[in-house]
Amino acid sequence: MTRPTVLIAGAGSIGERHARCFQRTGRVNVALCELDAERCQAVATQYGIAQSFTNWREALSIGPAAVVIATPAHLHIKMAHEAVQRGCHVLIEKPLAVRTSGLAEFEAAVAQHNARVAVAYVYRSHPALAAMQAALQSGRFGKPLQVVTVSGQNFPFYRPAYRSTYYTRHESGGGAVQDALTHLVNAVEWLVGPVTSLVADAAHLALDGVTVEDTVHVITRHREVLGCFTLNQHQAPNEATITVVCEQGTVRFEYHQHRWRWVTEPGGDWHDEVAVPLERDTLFITQAEQFLEFIAGKSPARCSLAEARQTLLVNQAILESARSRTWQDIP
Ligand SMILES: NC(=O)c1ccc[n+]([C@@H]2O[C@H](COP(=O)([O-])OP(=O)(O)OC[C@H]3O[C@@H](n4cnc5c(N)ncnc54)[C@H](O)[C@@H]3O)[C@@H](O)[C@H]2O)c1
Repeated sequence: MTRPTVLIAGAGSIGERHARCFQRTGRVNVALCELDAERCQAVATQYGIAQSFTNWREALSIGPAAVVIATPAHLHIKMAHEAVQRGCHVLIEKPLAVRTSGLAEFEAAVAQHNARVAVAYVYRSHPALAAMQAALQSGRFGKPLQVVTVSGQNFPFYRPAYRSTYYTRHESGGGAVQDALTHLVNAVEWLVGPVTSLVADAAHLALDGVTVEDTVHVITRHREVLGCFTLNQHQAPNEATITVVCEQGTVRFEYHQHRWRWVTEPGGDWHDEVAVPLERDTLFITQAEQFLEFIAGKSPARCSLAEARQTLLVNQAILESARSRTWQDIP
């Protein structure tokens, strides 16, 4: 049986990783589309990719089973729409978009073509977070009451080229809110439900060569659950924790420790549940496997289009709140 082809659109930092990680599943042929001819050639050669293109229409004409949209965020919906019209399933990088324009038409096309669309919020592929989410869903700790998210990393250390990428402008998906905080917002919405209102503060404090915000604080409501998020992109430690305080216990996800833990007795000790050391590629290979299961009709999307749309509305509301210094309701 011939393997299906997955076309990676955009062979930048994350596109290269998707190419490598889809190959690692051993279940698909990877093809590549990258506007920058030199970059296209380099990635194709490095990974032995036989079909590579610098023209998007030509790339789509090979009839891939699925496309991974790994271009800057302002291009996601347009490219995903075109892929769906050509009969492809689609995995779209986060954030889904920078605006909602074109989204309703895209959703209509998805329904019309019976396309399967998932969004690559990769935290949802983390085994520890998934296990904690399942435990919360099971009611083991009772009703969630409060959620506290604390996160930071030195962005220039991990993305030295940030000054020359989409990151520099909100219009192309840049800034801490759309680039980094969106992962945590989406993860928290998975754990305790959608944000229903929020107020935010954000500023550019430290990153050289850009003016977009690199530090963000948000207070949220998820219906009756109270939440807050803090994030910066300049501290030395690379850490992210999500703590959910429930009626019958407190649970905590620690991204940097690859684990989740819980306490149920007042003053009691933490109990560790999952502590598997993970390489960063492991998450993306898991995500690729989950997407392939999804398009085969064997499991639901890890993050659906509707869930990513909700997180997009939150991204927009955070930026608007920080600008106007007002509470925002999510429609
Ligand atoms: N899930 C994650 O952990 C993660 C990490 C990094 C980036 N991302 C997301 O992935 C997306 C891309 O980020 P990146 O860091 O790879 O950016 P990048 O700038 O490194 O790469 C984007 C690539 O897309 C190419 N491109 C632009 N328009 C194109 C087109 N029409 N056809 C083909 N190629 C085109 C560019 O030439 C560039 O090489 C963004 O939405 C970003 O938020 C996600």
